Amino acid sequence: MSLLVTNIGSLAMPGAEFGDVQTLENAAFVVDSGVISWIGNASDAPACDEVLDAAGRAVIPGFVDSHAHLVFDGDRASEFSARMAGESYSAGGIKTTVAATRAAGEEKLRSNIKHLVSELHASGITHFEIKSGYGLDLETEILSLRLAREFTTDVTYLGAHVVPAGVDREEYLKLVTGEMLQGALPYAKWIDVFCDRGAFTLSETRAILSAGVKAGLLPRLHANQLENLGAIELAVEFDCASVDHCTHLSDKDVELLANSNTVATLLPGAEFSTRSPYPDAKRLVAAGVDVAIATDCNPGSSYTTSMPFCIAVAVREMGLTVPQALWAATRGGAKALRNDLGRIEIGSSADFVILDAPSFEHLAYRPGVQLVAATYVAGKQVFGREAKWQ
Ligand code: NIG
Ligand code: FE
Repeated sequence: MSLLVTNIGSLAMPGAEFGDVQTLENAAFVVDSGVISWIGNASDAPACDEVLDAAGRAVIPGFVDSHAHLVFDGDRASEFSARMAGESYSAGGIKTTVAATRAAGEEKLRSNIKHLVSELHASGITHFEIKSGYGLDLETEILSLRLAREFTTDVTYLGAHVVPAGVDREEYLKLVTGEMLQGALPYAKWIDVFCDRGAFTLSETRAILSAGVKAGLLPRLHANQLENLGAIELAVEFDCASVDHCTHLSDKDVELLANSNTVATLLPGAEFSTRSPYPDAKRLVAAGVDVAIATDCNPGSSYTTSMPFCIAVAVREMGLTVPQALWAATRGGAKALRNDLGRIEIGSSADFVILDAPSFEHLAYRPGVQLVAATYVAGKQVFGREAKWQ
């Protein structure tokens, strides 16, 4: 079955280099068995079994969300409200969500993830990572990972989110690097640690990452959100695919990242929702660091599933240009997960988004407006709303 996507006003194609986005006007592409097999001018397009008319609108690759905490129950709206009234954010709030998550049960957690995944699709996200980290006991962490694996191949074991209430620190470290880690292995691909004030120290992070890597998981980190504990050096030493947050960085950290294969993943929703200073993306880009943007969807510090919102904030508040932000949310996310998604090229998976806009710039230019008209994963529609092109 072949599908011709045609009459595309502007087709955005992020390239291999950070921030490079080529656009093709009056474009079309062909999807064969879920894979892009031809790209060119609409007037040269071959005949196909089915035709999708984009009616002159823009098409972009699906966003790749490399950082999302989707397994939880409850919300923390009152904590958010208190912050907006002057309270500050701390890692301690995670414990509130842990209590709700433990009490929720399998069916409720599964239906919560389903709901959030439908929101991700509606925001143009076609591939996403899911972390555990709100169970923090053997049973609920493994359940979280098992459920996450029903929705994505990029499952991350984050037993080391914080030490849960009422548990001895040494005992918990033993559990996270022992029985819990073993239980995570059938479901998880990645291991993550929150290395920051109020979470895990640098030496604890080293021990946890080492155990995970020894067991066959691939490393990534939450670090430098609240304070710089020296985690960037560790992340680069471990060849972490990504180090996420990166708000507090020294010049040496930036240089280390620039000379590494580790992506700096920025989470605009987190600074927005915690009213914290934004990381300086311009500084990272100037040094040659590959930057990704992700939603960090979680009920405490960033309860958004909207990648267009994250793009708009990254452009307005972090200093990325619009093409750089599009790249960071597509190929950047893919690089942070070490896969080859987030692109529109011959041979790539037909993961794409039709925007109710003439060009991708509108993602930042029209903040807060639902511009995603339809989302396709491997050529199949996963989201669509009434729009002029239909
Ligand atoms: O990525 N920073 C650590 N973890 C989450 C926040 C978790 C929470 O507050 O519930 C984050 O921002
Ligand atoms: Fe996070």
